[in-house]
Amino acid sequence: MHEEVTGELFLRPPEERMVKMKAVIWTGYGGPQVLVPSEIETPVPRENEILLKIHSASVTAGDCEMRRLELPLGLSLPVRLYAGWRKPRRIKIPGQEFSGEVVKTGSPVSKFSVGDMLCGTTGFRFGAYAEYICVSESPDEMSGVMAGKPENLSMVEASALPTAGMEALHYLKESKLEKGHKLLIIGAGGSIGSFALQAARHMGIRVTAVDSGDKLQMLSDLGAERVIDYASDESPGSTGEFDSAIDMVGGRGVLKRLGYVRPGGSYFLAFAYIRHLLLAPFIRLLLGKKLNITSSSQSQEELQRLIHFTGTACISPVIHKCFPLSEAAEAHRFAESGVKQGNIVLTAQN
Ligand SMILES: NC(=O)c1ccc[n+]([C@@H]2O[C@H](COP(=O)([O-])OP(=O)(O)OC[C@H]3O[C@@H](n4cnc5c(N)ncnc54)[C@H](OP(=O)(O)O)[C@@H]3O)[C@@H](O)[C@H]2O)c1
Repeated sequence: MHEEVTGELFLRPPEERMVKMKAVIWTGYGGPQVLVPSEIETPVPRENEILLKIHSASVTAGDCEMRRLELPLGLSLPVRLYAGWRKPRRIKIPGQEFSGEVVKTGSPVSKFSVGDMLCGTTGFRFGAYAEYICVSESPDEMSGVMAGKPENLSMVEASALPTAGMEALHYLKESKLEKGHKLLIIGAGGSIGSFALQAARHMGIRVTAVDSGDKLQMLSDLGAERVIDYASDESPGSTGEFDSAIDMVGGRGVLKRLGYVRPGGSYFLAFAYIRHLLLAPFIRLLLGKKLNITSSSQSQEELQRLIHFTGTACISPVIHKCFPLSEAAEAHRFAESGVKQGNIVLTAQN
C-alpha cells in the first residue's frame, strides 16, 4: 500500500484513491491477442474535464488497422512516432468512439451535467475501451468531439454513430447529389457504407451497393436498388452510369471502378494511399472526374449536424453483435472475419 501513495494520489480525497476500473490495455502492434483485459485506476477529472461512465465503445475498422499497424509507410510511420515505436506507449487504452453518461464534472460550472447521456469520439487520445474515461468538456478535432445522444438511438447504437456517420454525411454533402441521382457504394455492408446507404436513401438517392454475398439481403433491406456480390463477375453498372461513388475498399481496382462514374462526378475514397493523392489532379484533368480523398473534419458542428440528421431521418447504425469489454480481442477477431455486417460494439456496463 505504501508504494501506491504517489504524489498525485496523496492530493486526492480519500474516496477517489485507487478506485479500480476495467479497461483493455493495448500491449503491442499485432493480432487481437495484444488487447489484454486489465484493472487499472479510474481516472479523476481535472478542472476542464468530465468523467464519463462508458456504456459502449464501437470496434471500428480504424481500431483494427491501428492495432495491426499493417499500414503503408506514409501512415504507419506517423502512428509509430505518435503512439510508440515498438509498441504503443503514449496510448495505453484503444477505442475512439463511445456512448456514456456524465458521472462527474471537474469544474463546478460545466457545459454538461451529471446524468447527461453523450456520444462522441476521443480523437487521438483514444481510451474508449474502458469503464470510465475523462474527456475535455470542450474537445476539438484532435481530442474528440461529443454531444447529447440522439433520442432515437440506444446507447449501443449511439456508440457506433459518430465516425461512420460523420464520414457518410461528409461524402454525401460533397457529392452534391440530389433526389433521383445514382450512387455506387463499394463496401456498403460495413460501418460507413451501411450508414451512407440509409442516409442516401433518405435523400431519395438511388443506390447500387457492393459487398460480400451474405450481406446483400441486409443491403436490400436498407433500401439499395441493386446489390452486387464483390466475389461475382457481375458489373455494378455501365460506364459513366453513376453520378458519384463512395469506395470503402480502395486498392488497385480504383482506376477501373472510376469508369462507372460519369465525367463531372465525384469518386470518394475512405482509405486512400499517397498514389491516389498524386493521381487525383491527372484524373481531374484527363477524365474530368473528382477523385476525392477528403474526410469529415470531425468537428463539433459536424457531430451536431449528424445527430440532427439521424433524428430527422429516423435512421440508426446497423449493429451486428455486442461483446463485453473483457472480450475485446474476440470482438476484433469477429470484426476482421469478413462476416461483420454494419458495426461491432463493446459494452462496458454488464
Ligand atoms: N477517412 C477517414 O477519416 C476514415 C474514417 C473512418 C474510416 N475510414 C476508413 O474507411 C475504410 C472503411 O471503413 P468502414 O468502417 O466502413 O470499414 P468496414 O466496416 O470494415 O467496411 C468495409 C466493407 O467493405 C467490404 N469489402 C471488402 N472488400 C471489398 C470489395 N473488394 N468490394 C466491395 N466491398 C468490399 C468489407 O467486407 P468483408 O467483411 O467481406 O471484408 C466490409 O463490409 C477503413 O479502411 C477505415 O479505416 C476512414
